[in-house]
Amino acid sequence: MARILETRRLTPVTKYFRIEAPLIAAAARPGQFVMLRVREGGERIPITIADYDRAAGTLTIVVQEVGATTRRVCALEAGEEILDVAGPLGGHIEIPPGGHVCGIGGGFGSAALLCLMRELSARGDRTTAILGARTKELLILADELRPLCRNVEVCTDDGSAGFKGFVTQRLAQLIAGDGPGRPDHVVAIGPMAMMRAVADATREAKVKTLVSMDPLMVDGTGMCGGCRVTVGGKARFACVDGPCFDAHEVDFDVAMRRNKQYVREEKQAFERVACMAARESR
Ligand SMILES: Cc1cc2nc3c(=O)[nH]c(=O)nc-3n(C[C@H](O)[C@H](O)[C@H](O)COP(=O)(O)OP(=O)(O)OC[C@H]3O[C@@H](n4cnc5c(N)ncnc54)[C@H](O)[C@@H]3O)c2cc1C
Ligand code: FES
Repeated sequence: MARILETRRLTPVTKYFRIEAPLIAAAARPGQFVMLRVREGGERIPITIADYDRAAGTLTIVVQEVGATTRRVCALEAGEEILDVAGPLGGHIEIPPGGHVCGIGGGFGSAALLCLMRELSARGDRTTAILGARTKELLILADELRPLCRNVEVCTDDGSAGFKGFVTQRLAQLIAGDGPGRPDHVVAIGPMAMMRAVADATREAKVKTLVSMDPLMVDGTGMCGGCRVTVGGKARFACVDGPCFDAHEVDFDVAMRRNKQYVREEKQAFERVACMAARESR
């Protein structure tokens, strides 16, 4: 069990949690994830480690409500407990030191930049975070990232904050030499469509790029095969071989198709949880 120490609504569907997990915090590295379970007999879901504080023995995670289990997680408050938190799982992000690293975050993906940018800045790399959202109200963690990064660039589709346009448009400007300049490495974490667009933008410009793949996972330990992704023409398991892979080697068509496999069942599960919540609130 992991006690929840702090929660904060970041957007209507996104919640920040700081939880007590000293053993995981002691071993965690940027890019890794944990598997959460909130009730006996319930499914386990993968959630990225957004940050950790080894001295305090705490982990930070950010959860976006998209279905039945994430809705149950987001209903929890400080003082309550998460039944199981297993990790750290997966490999960590490795980038050669001394360059300009640009982390790109969309949706809950911005959270994963917290520990990554902190570690890279601490070893002396030049760091830029580009955060994207449809509109200002959906941007998360820009203020938290500012002290951890040399530059934070904000992009909104509607221009309500920062650069008006997609993260990939701002990235193209940086690659062309604008603002903080051309990155040596890009790490993109967010919706699959965004990661694919980043991969396309950096492939042509020959900028090394990592993406954090988020396929459906069951056990998170390499046993079920559920998280299979195609990378460089080979089948790889995101939970043990990833979740971060060379963006230019990932087959996004296969990944996007596989993530839509259970949409009907997921919708039914979500409706069941919504009905139960409505009944309990009467
Ligand atoms: C390595 C990894 C790290 C992740 N980190 C985070 C995180 O930090 N915060 C967070 O909120 N979520 C994260 N996710 C996604 C999260 O695990 C899923 O959103 C969650 O499992 C959905 O469970 P559910 O029962 O609430 O929704 P479901 O009923 O399972 O799904 C609801 C909807 O979300 C879509 N969906 C389900 N799983 C995924 C997925 N893996 N990627 C994209 N869409 C999905 C479904 O297609 C469906 O449309 C991560 C996934 C992986 C693999
Ligand atoms: S989640 Fe089962 S093999 Fe990766």
